[in-house]
Amino acid sequence: MLVVSLSGSPALKSRSGVVLEHARHWLQAHDVNVQALKIRDFAAEDLLYAHFDSPQVIDFIEAVKQADGLLIGTPVYKASFSGALKTLLDLLPERSLHGKVVLPLATGGSIAHMLAVDYALKPVLSALKCQEVLHGIFAIDTQISYSNNEQGGELDDILTERLHEGLEHFHHGLLRRVQARHSLAGGHLKLAL
Ligand SMILES: Cc1cc2nc3c(=O)[nH]c(=O)nc-3n(C[C@H](O)[C@H](O)[C@H](O)COP(=O)(O)O)c2cc1C
Repeated sequence: MLVVSLSGSPALKSRSGVVLEHARHWLQAHDVNVQALKIRDFAAEDLLYAHFDSPQVIDFIEAVKQADGLLIGTPVYKASFSGALKTLLDLLPERSLHGKVVLPLATGGSIAHMLAVDYALKPVLSALKCQEVLHGIFAIDTQISYSNNEQGGELDDILTERLHEGLEHFHHGLLRRVQARHSLAGGHLKLAL
């Protein structure tokens, strides 16, 4: 099983990045391969000028195509997900998320915009033909503390519990998708015989 983890924070030191890192460790401990990508890894010009032919963007599109699911992490910016993340999602072909399971994770300064994933990110994922967007996990900044290294940090107990619960659902969704793919392949094989 392959998951693309996408960090939509433009910040070097990122709270949503800390949550994504915890999620990555959990998934890897459950035998899921995770390809971790950050919006910061992309050339700003490719994103701003929509360079569909950039090798990095082509690689990203291919990684999404191969993935069974996506973890998308974003800070809340002005009551929505980050604009930087939108510039990247805009480069994906229209049916890119068809058949994938997506778990959104968002962090914000307060609970005021805890529904940002629902009213802002979910419509974009649905425009990319995702049929299985799981309940997003929202955390406020005070639930995440940084450690001394660049991306490390700790989550409080409540957030850890909610994250693990969300990841369990995500994992089940991934397993269902892989089983469906295998039974489809089995069906094709029977038809060929
Ligand atoms: C430009 C900017 C806009 C923000 N707008 C909001 C907002 O509208 N609502 C909110 O709850 N937090 C807002 N915040 C706070 C961030 O969402 C919060 O600190 C988040 O955890 C940052 O995530 P990151 O460290 O992964 O970048 C904003 C922060 C910045 C820098």
